[in-house]
Amino acid sequence: MFFKWSDSYSVKILSVDREHQKLFDIINEFYDQLMTKQAKQLIVETLANLSMYTKTHFRNEELLMQKYGYPKYAEHKTLHEQYVAKIDEYKEKIAANKIVMTHELATFLKDWLLNHVLKIDKQYSSFFDLNIVK
Ligand code: FEO
Repeated sequence: MFFKWSDSYSVKILSVDREHQKLFDIINEFYDQLMTKQAKQLIVETLANLSMYTKTHFRNEELLMQKYGYPKYAEHKTLHEQYVAKIDEYKEKIAANKIVMTHELATFLKDWLLNHVLKIDKQYSSFFDLNIVK
C-alpha cells in the first residue's frame, strides 16, 4: 500500500476525516494501477474519480468554512482550486499521451494532499467549535 491513514491526520470532524480517507483510498488505487501497469483507460478513469471526489470534498469543506465564517476561507479555496486543476491537467495529458504515467505523479498527489491536510486543514480544526461541527 502506498499510503496508510493515521489517526494523527484527523481534523476532529468525522465527516471530513472520512472524506480524506476516501481520497487517500483513491490515490492508493491509482498508485496500484500504475505499479501493476493497468490499462491507460482504467487509470484515467481513476483520476477522473479522484477529480470528482476531490471536488465533492472541497465543496463540503468550503461550505463548512462559509457557514462558520472561517477567516482563511479565500486562501484555502485557492489552494483547493490549484489541486483540482493539477489533477485535471494530469488526467487530460495522460489521456492524450502527452505525459508518461510515473511513480512521481502518484507521489505528488499523495504528498500534496497529506501536506494540505496536516498544514492547512488542521488550521480550521482548532477554529471550529467542535461541539457544533459534527
Ligand atoms: Fe480537506 Fe482543504 O481539503
